[in-house]
Amino acid sequence: MLLKNKKFLISGLANKYSIAAGIAHAMHREGAELAFTYQNERLLKNLGPIAESCGSDILIECDVSNDDSIQSSFNKLSKRWEKFDGFIHSIGYAPADQLEGNFVDVTNREGFKIAHDISSYSFTAMAREAKPMLNDNSALLTLTYLGSTQTLPNYNVMGLAKASLEANTRFLAASMGRDNVRVNAISAGPIKTLAASGVKNFRKMLSQHSKRAPLGRTITAEEVGNVAAFLCSDYASGITGEITYVDAGFNIAAMPLDDIEE
Ligand SMILES: NC(=O)c1ccc[n+]([C@@H]2O[C@H](COP(=O)([O-])OP(=O)(O)OC[C@H]3O[C@@H](n4cnc5c(N)ncnc54)[C@H](O)[C@@H]3O)[C@@H](O)[C@H]2O)c1
Repeated sequence: MLLKNKKFLISGLANKYSIAAGIAHAMHREGAELAFTYQNERLLKNLGPIAESCGSDILIECDVSNDDSIQSSFNKLSKRWEKFDGFIHSIGYAPADQLEGNFVDVTNREGFKIAHDISSYSFTAMAREAKPMLNDNSALLTLTYLGSTQTLPNYNVMGLAKASLEANTRFLAASMGRDNVRVNAISAGPIKTLAASGVKNFRKMLSQHSKRAPLGRTITAEEVGNVAAFLCSDYASGITGEITYVDAGFNIAAMPLDDIEE
């Protein structure tokens, strides 16, 4: 078991389709003890049974748009765990009007600010609050997407926020490395979740993905979970500041093989 005797906090589990749910199941299977944060009361009914199936009764509200909420959530966690081994940041958001239409026309100051605040700054804020409670050899992990480095329709300002999140991963890795804390990101291929459904024509992205990806398919939250468990384990002790793609190879292929071969 990769994560025996380790304790991890998982954020961003909204329902059973969440990438965080795939990560929770994989980390539980690998022996980790888990705690969860949720954005608001409304999501608690979805989270409760999943947390229970992972043997956890530590469920703490944390709205990352609010500093007091972040601080108080780690304060509450410290009442249950004096020390722990890291957290999963699986949080992203941009207002719906930012994720539909031509980038230059739809992107506004408020949407830009919110996307970067919730999707990138929150990772730094959580790392700062967690820092005094982290064991030696801890690992932090966030979820990013290819829109950080390449353009695609409708993803718009989220692409910029993911670019910020990836730089954030590198700066946190440099900043926390001497404390023996590793910081990494998984760049996941498209998966149909609540957040993903906010991007217009997401279903078409899924079929495009399967056409171009070397493996000829999309990926599952379980596959992301397996890599998350590895990256948070001591087997990944030499890896920090990295963006690991779990995307069936999509990012390395410029053109689908079939286009030339037919
Ligand atoms: N689904 C995909 O195709 C895909 C691909 C690559 C990366 N990602 C990233 O994975 C992460 C998880 O997304 P998902 O696809 O599992 O969708 P999801 O909707 O299941 O999860 C998004 C989570 O963000 C949380 N969140 C949003 N605003 C918040 C706030 N103010 N405070 C606290 N939590 C807040 C939501 O409560 C939700 O749990 C996101 O960062 C997303 O960008 C998703």
